[in-house]
Amino acid sequence: MTSPSHPDIPPIYLNNAATTWPKPAEVLEEVAACLRNPVHEAGRTTGSGSTDYPSATRDALTAFFRAERPEHFVFTQNATDALNLLIHGFTKKAGTPYHAITTELDHNSVLRPLRSLEGEGRLNLSILPFEDGHVSLHEIKKAIRADTRLVVMTHGSNVLGTLQDVRPVAEYCVSNDIFLVIDGAQTAGQIPVSLSEIPAGAFVFTGHKALFGIPGIGGFYIQEPEAVASTRQGGTGSDSRLISHPQDMPHKFEAGTLNYPGIASLLAGTRYIEREGQDAITNKLRSLTSDFIGKLGRDPDIVIYHETPDLPVVSFNIRNLDNDEAGFILARAYHVITRTGLHCAPLVHEKLDGGRGCIRASFSYLNTREQIETAAAAIREVAAGANR
Ligand SMILES: Cc1ncc(COP(=O)(O)O)c(C=O)c1O
Repeated sequence: MTSPSHPDIPPIYLNNAATTWPKPAEVLEEVAACLRNPVHEAGRTTGSGSTDYPSATRDALTAFFRAERPEHFVFTQNATDALNLLIHGFTKKAGTPYHAITTELDHNSVLRPLRSLEGEGRLNLSILPFEDGHVSLHEIKKAIRADTRLVVMTHGSNVLGTLQDVRPVAEYCVSNDIFLVIDGAQTAGQIPVSLSEIPAGAFVFTGHKALFGIPGIGGFYIQEPEAVASTRQGGTGSDSRLISHPQDMPHKFEAGTLNYPGIASLLAGTRYIEREGQDAITNKLRSLTSDFIGKLGRDPDIVIYHETPDLPVVSFNIRNLDNDEAGFILARAYHVITRTGLHCAPLVHEKLDGGRGCIRASFSYLNTREQIETAAAAIREVAAGANR
């Protein structure tokens, strides 16, 4: 790909926390192979010879996330879709109004479904503050009430790049009969995630970010399907005599034709990560991120909001320059693609920058050190220009 304003110059793409680009060649090839061959899905088609992508990918995800039951992986359009299914489905099952907890670090894909249900009188919501990019178990315990039934929290902040220590939260929730939903949109593929060690009610992932799939695929792993009602009904290719929706997994939460090319991309993406090695990926990303911060951090005209992120996400502002304008200059004059604004996490920004928003550079395993250094030099040049 080349830059729109300079067709000969390839862009330095640093918006990987939104969606990764480029995708590994084998992901694109698997998508093409999926579309080239007739669809084959156990229970739905009589085809054979081509890959049964839903089954193969559920098996691959089970190994990848060290989970137990392939049929407890549910495919959705993305993380937002998964969070909507879980939050609305849990509330439908709960029946009576209850108390739910989330955090200021969370994304609008968590805040908006919860706020919407609060507006309908279906739940009371507590939004817990963060300190230095973290929400502690202590803070969660303080907020618990007799009627607390649901906690939804991000595993990794898409603005600060901080990781939440979800394992003790999951253990606490399990022993207090609280359903915990972890939003792993920023962690799946980025760091090793072992669901056998995190007893959460459900773990949400998205396909198109660090798992290297294409847009339009995501999902969740659910430990306790009984805790959540299905909110979608339709064809599943099973129990077709019944006009009530089947309750077996994964059909309980999947209705209609699946996104086969998206599922194929997820299969190839997880294989790619396993071949390269999750630890090698995580280590390279940590090294690129600290290199980038090292290059920017000494500049008095650049304010970095969290200088020790666990994830490859660096949010910053340039003194005396609007973040949207800075992003525009970086893209047009230097071919460096970042993301600017509120990053769908408005409550983080209220605390961080008074709701002004910031520039976010986020890296992928496929970025090179040279790209990171060129981008850092470009940002410093823009900062110098704005503060002359
Ligand atoms: C923390 C977090 N949660 C949820 C989402 C939503 O992901 P998707 O676009 O796949 O629905 C994002 C995406 O930006 C995110 O960063």
